[in-house]
Amino acid sequence: MIKEYIFGKPFETYAVVDRTGIITEVANEDVAKRIGFKKDEADRALSPYGGITWDDSEYVMTYAVDMGKDDIVYGLGENIRGINKRGWIYESKCSDDPIHDEFKSSLYGAHNFIMMSGEKVYGLFIDYPGRVIWDIGYSHINKMQVLVCSENFKLYVINSEVADKKEQYRDIIKQFRKMIGQSYVAPRWAFGFQQSRWGYQNQGDIEAVVENYRKNNIPIDAVYMDIDYMERFKDFTIDSEKFPAFEKFVSKMKKQHIHLVPIIDAGVKIEEGYDTYEEGVKKNYFCKEEDGNNFVAGVWPGRVHFPDFLNAQARDWFGNGYKVLLDAGIDGFWNDMNEPALFYSEKHLKEAFDEIETYKDKNLDIDTFFRLGNIVRGLGNNLGDYKSFYHRATQPEGEMLVRHDHVHNIYGYNMTRAASDAFKRLVPHKNILMFSRASYIGMHRYGGIWTGDNYSWWSHILLLLKMLPSLNMCGFMYIGADMGGFGGNVTEDLLMRWTELSMFVPLMRNHAAAGTRNQELYRFTDTEAFARLVNIRYALIPYIYSEYMKAVENNDMMYIPLSFEYPCDKYAVNAEDQMLVGESIMIAPVYTQNATGRYVYLPENMTMVRIRAVNDYELTECKAGHHYVDVALDEVVFFIREGHALPLAGSGQYVDDIDVGEVTLLRAEGSNADYELIWD
Ligand code: GLC
Repeated sequence: MIKEYIFGKPFETYAVVDRTGIITEVANEDVAKRIGFKKDEADRALSPYGGITWDDSEYVMTYAVDMGKDDIVYGLGENIRGINKRGWIYESKCSDDPIHDEFKSSLYGAHNFIMMSGEKVYGLFIDYPGRVIWDIGYSHINKMQVLVCSENFKLYVINSEVADKKEQYRDIIKQFRKMIGQSYVAPRWAFGFQQSRWGYQNQGDIEAVVENYRKNNIPIDAVYMDIDYMERFKDFTIDSEKFPAFEKFVSKMKKQHIHLVPIIDAGVKIEEGYDTYEEGVKKNYFCKEEDGNNFVAGVWPGRVHFPDFLNAQARDWFGNGYKVLLDAGIDGFWNDMNEPALFYSEKHLKEAFDEIETYKDKNLDIDTFFRLGNIVRGLGNNLGDYKSFYHRATQPEGEMLVRHDHVHNIYGYNMTRAASDAFKRLVPHKNILMFSRASYIGMHRYGGIWTGDNYSWWSHILLLLKMLPSLNMCGFMYIGADMGGFGGNVTEDLLMRWTELSMFVPLMRNHAAAGTRNQELYRFTDTEAFARLVNIRYALIPYIYSEYMKAVENNDMMYIPLSFEYPCDKYAVNAEDQMLVGESIMIAPVYTQNATGRYVYLPENMTMVRIRAVNDYELTECKAGHHYVDVALDEVVFFIREGHALPLAGSGQYVDDIDVGEVTLLRAEGSNADYELIWD
């Protein structure tokens, strides 16, 4: 049962698309008691936290809930910290910030859905595209306060009629997922291994990558083209010196079963003679400042304008831009910098230069020196800048002028919607790979996401694991993190352990930042081990793809915390570093350096699979309970659930090479459990 409460005059985000069963109510007593305009109180509560502030013009509604000491809060999609979100403060604000440490409050996505599990289990969705703050036991350990920085928003409360807690969880998620619409389905080849790096300059660089993978028998399906393929970082252009015959190159790669996946950035370079820029200006498709001038900010190409993705015509126009690449045979894209990330705004930069000028020749002291640093640091992704430009948003009742900060979190979402709508228009018979950096609930219908600029840190293996179920709850199914870490220098063991987790994740993409250590799997001492591991991934693809498809079709989750399945088992409820992947298996990856194994908790009897290569594995029956399990650096250990079977195919050098006719079913001794493959 879903109840909708409407406050003020909410902006239509199109997050909710299926209204069957939704009952719109005037705030009933229970909700009314929780809701209030509590700016003063909220200010006080949050004052110890430096990162989250607002100014006087912001109206703040709070929704307050007392939490019992054992209550658990699940959700919030792409975010830091645990599967249980208690004990921190989170901010829904799509942010370009590569340092995903414990202290952060937001990442690239803004996903306002939680499920509270206490005396009652219920889901809560706040549909508001500006800032929402989730203080989940930060200011008061036993209180959750949701602060919506607006008086205009929709609140949905989802309850389940089912009595059993385990069923309740899944029922609430399914109700929510149904109301936000079915998730995007990625093409099957996109479940293969993919290699990326910011720094591949030209055709030769890409060919060398493919050659090395093939030579080392490491399966691969795609290579990414980061910003360097473009002419001076201009969207929908290809540098003809680096790629003299692009179309031919794309088809040559196709023949080798390699898909090329170019990046598209949100900002459009300001350059006379550049058609996308000129057309956007002429047709008024860019975001504007208050005085009607196009907003100017700096990103990779220097000065850019930002397409007004909230406007339906601008969306159609930008979407048509993908055509030049589609025509060349491209069938996958990643949308980037679409929070949108701002290095600076033209106005703010000028003010900063003026201020810096006044510091010249001064004897800088403790205050002035720090102030100087802050002037420069404050240039990027500045809230003041986000408040200085406007959209002509297409709303059900017509066009509406809206200031960016009030709709910030749906900018990337609408860029991806522009792309996806264009694909349906331009190449209706093809399924195009699309995923985005910034996102909001609703975008899951148009594409997947990667979790942005992470680091080559051991803690980021665990962070990925913990995000998987939360993302699924919010509808994001085609998901993954930069394998091996984007920033920093990876080590061979970190990359190997990361590979052993990513092999269970739909988007298995090795990606790294310019200037970091080379991270392709063939660069390391034990290339043979990486080849074995990626071959295991390919043998698992029929299972991963089937589970993905089933979860999408049933509005269900593919990554299931143990607490969902065994809600009365205290060890399972507390397990945050192992989880079920689909119906048949439980994974428990190793994520600490130099570990030769780990403790694993089995909530029921399971069959342990120790696999070193596609044809080199052993099965061991294990009793429910705690186990210490040895896991060598180059092997994978996972568990098959009682009464279930895992299909293992015969690998392949690319996805279409996998022979699903040759599937072996792994299962407990004496079991005749079967498995339904989906491989259309
Ligand atoms: C952003 C992206 C990253 C990409 C880089 C250059 O930081 O998140 O993946 O490599 O831009 O385009």
